[in-house]
Amino acid sequence: EMNEITDHYLRPLQDLRISIMDKCNFRCSYCMPADVFGEDYVFMREEELLSFDEIERMVTQFTTLGVKKVRLTGGEPLLRKNVSTLVEKLAAIKEIGDIALTTNGVHLVKQARALKKAGLMRVNISLDALDTTIFQEMNGRKVSSAVVLKGIDAALEAGLHVKINMVVKKGVNEGEVVKLASYCKDKGITLRFIEFMDVGQTNGWNYSQVVTKKELLEKISTIAPLEQVKRDYLGEVADRYRYKGTNTEIGIISSVSDTFCGSCTRARISADGKMYTCLFAEEGFDLRALVRSGASDLEIRATIENIWRKRTDKYSEERTEQTVRKRKKIEMSYIGG
Ligand code: GTP
Ligand code: 5AD
Ligand code: SF4
Ligand code: SF4
Repeated sequence: EMNEITDHYLRPLQDLRISIMDKCNFRCSYCMPADVFGEDYVFMREEELLSFDEIERMVTQFTTLGVKKVRLTGGEPLLRKNVSTLVEKLAAIKEIGDIALTTNGVHLVKQARALKKAGLMRVNISLDALDTTIFQEMNGRKVSSAVVLKGIDAALEAGLHVKINMVVKKGVNEGEVVKLASYCKDKGITLRFIEFMDVGQTNGWNYSQVVTKKELLEKISTIAPLEQVKRDYLGEVADRYRYKGTNTEIGIISSVSDTFCGSCTRARISADGKMYTCLFAEEGFDLRALVRSGASDLEIRATIENIWRKRTDKYSEERTEQTVRKRKKIEMSYIGG
């Protein structure tokens, strides 16, 4: 039985972002800086991660409360073994109309076909630069952009819908904006520019390193004139534009210069099973403990419902110089972006 619920500000619960792996094979400076996530950093143990059956059970309960869209994230989700098996389980839940995955793309050459076959519909692939030196500086692991480009092609060949995510940092990869935009325009792929955000506590965020939506639009308009495209669904985070006279789009995710909390319909689950109602949350609810204690489906559902009904998060609307520093925010690699 389906019962759509809303939170304290009347926002429905519609999408669920599930982190399935806290580790990553990259060390992007804005997410998992190498000096913090070093050799001795303690990641989750295998048994701490939610099992695929536990994820399936939770997702099923979320769908009874309105969730229709699921996205797998990390860390790097494709570092988890047999992700296709999980996708297959989730694809079998009939209420779910959209299953997507956010990845750095390295493992797509190997996995894209199996993921598509299992029922995955879309992948959002991160790529911050075409220039290998700049890309290596950003990913912290000497991976060249050619590897990711091959992953993008593999995903396209497998029939997955592909979007590229580019986080832009002032003075680092600003010069790649137009180059990457031209590359994607030629291939007809949607590229989304993401303002560098103050997630977590370790990425050394500073407003002076943000390239704003306004600056980005100015740069991209030099390629071809743009026109705005309407939002696809309530709570879509990207502002969409297309090159005039074409179907090729770009998007801007301006979570610093704009706020989109008013229509935020997203819940998040960390790889160890904590539920969060905001990307910038300080605390989550331990759904894994509940599930492992032998709770019934009804109890799981009632717990999720309770948390959502009380939800008052609107961090980006409240963000000030003060809160940026004060809040004990969880890391992006933990909550899954
Ligand atoms: P689509 O379903 O393709 O629109 O995906 P998406 O943009 O929701 O997901 P993706 O994982 O590609 O995220 C792109 C960027 O948007 C990342 O930097 C996310 O952290 C950011 N993002 C997603 N949801 C939220 C949100 O609720 N709040 C904020 N501040 N940023 C978000
Ligand atoms: N600011 C903006 N985007 C970020 N991402 C990771 N950390 C940050 C940050 N601090 C992006 C990744 C990926 C998406 C899931 O989140 O590049 O595309
Ligand atoms: Fe890994 Fe993505 Fe974070 Fe980069 S942004 S370190 S690829 S999880
Ligand atoms: Fe949603 Fe929190 Fe992002 Fe606002 S800051 S859009 S409430 S996740």
